[in-house]
Amino acid sequence: MRQAGRSLPEYRSIRGVGSILEAIADPELSAEITLQPVRRYGVDAAILYSDIVVPAAAIGFGVDVAPGVGPVVEHPFERTADLQRLRPLEPEVDTPYVLETVRILARELTVPLIGFAGAPFTVASYLIEGRPSRTYTRTKALMHGDPTLWHALMERLAEMAIVSLRSQIDNGAVALQIFDSWAGALAPPDYERFVLPHSRRVFEGVADLGVPRIHFGVGTGELLGLMASAGADVVGVDWRVPLDIARTRVPAGIALQGNLDPALCFAPWEVTAEATRDVLRRNAGHPGHIFNLGHGVMPETDPGVLERVVELVHTEGRCDGTISPEESAS
Ligand code: CP3
Repeated sequence: MRQAGRSLPEYRSIRGVGSILEAIADPELSAEITLQPVRRYGVDAAILYSDIVVPAAAIGFGVDVAPGVGPVVEHPFERTADLQRLRPLEPEVDTPYVLETVRILARELTVPLIGFAGAPFTVASYLIEGRPSRTYTRTKALMHGDPTLWHALMERLAEMAIVSLRSQIDNGAVALQIFDSWAGALAPPDYERFVLPHSRRVFEGVADLGVPRIHFGVGTGELLGLMASAGADVVGVDWRVPLDIARTRVPAGIALQGNLDPALCFAPWEVTAEATRDVLRRNAGHPGHIFNLGHGVMPETDPGVLERVVELVHTEGRCDGTISPEESAS
């Protein structure tokens, strides 16, 4: 999950100051940063150190990631003419450093590497708002006010995601995660009309690769069923919906990822441990579960607590791939 490494002193000491985009442009550094949390925590997969705005930045849209703020855009997307600023991504030419990082990691890692992209809606929200937003007013105004332009923008961002994801798999990633982090800001009918077709296009565009595909968002309790229909194999759940309830909102056969509240890593260890066990208990031995936090690791998190959470999940959460009789009956 985003920022897994951010809590680590070894990350802070090699990350340097300045924009994260500079660190991402350095393959040796990015590969090392990807490896750090894997080494420290012994997790079962690695997520590439990059960012969802890297493709848009690489084609010259004029986006940067301000430390402590997030993505910022000099001239936000406003009108039809702005589509010209979104030419197709050519990963070998525009982001060769990302592909080099992926190749280094494919050689060095002993666990699977997850490649990723931002879903069209979440990337669009940054390009339109120009900076992180709580209300998404400009994004919603454009979506409802000029649906033709909205869909044209989403089509370009979907293609950008597909091309980027395919290039990561070509170079050695073995699973994909699509981050639609802020989709939870939308009412289900708006999600269905303005977002779902484009996310579905992204999943279709990588379906032939045959790798597991994860679809993640925050605050998506009301959207889980729709998100599950976009085509992913796994749907991410934040901490707001207990896992057993989330399971009733997605079709059988879809795996879940989640969902310990990252804030509970700050409670006394017994509380954190109990919350971790609660996630496992609510999963009830179902084989389709990737244990994870409900969202990113907070920077102030004590790495020692995360080490213990991973250890607890490994000791108590391993499942043998069979479903309990109650589960298979339901
Ligand atoms: O854990 C990892 O480092 C994996 C790599 C990763 C990053 N960003 C690095 C990063 C991934 C998978 C992302 C995806 C991403 N980026 C998302 C989707 C995931 C999610 O959290 O919902 C989003 C919404 C972004 C946009 C973004 N980039 C935000 C909101 C921020 C936080 C700004 C801040 O400093 O608080 C960033 C910056 C960013 N991307 C950091 C990291 C490790 C923060 C630290 C830094 O700048 O070094």
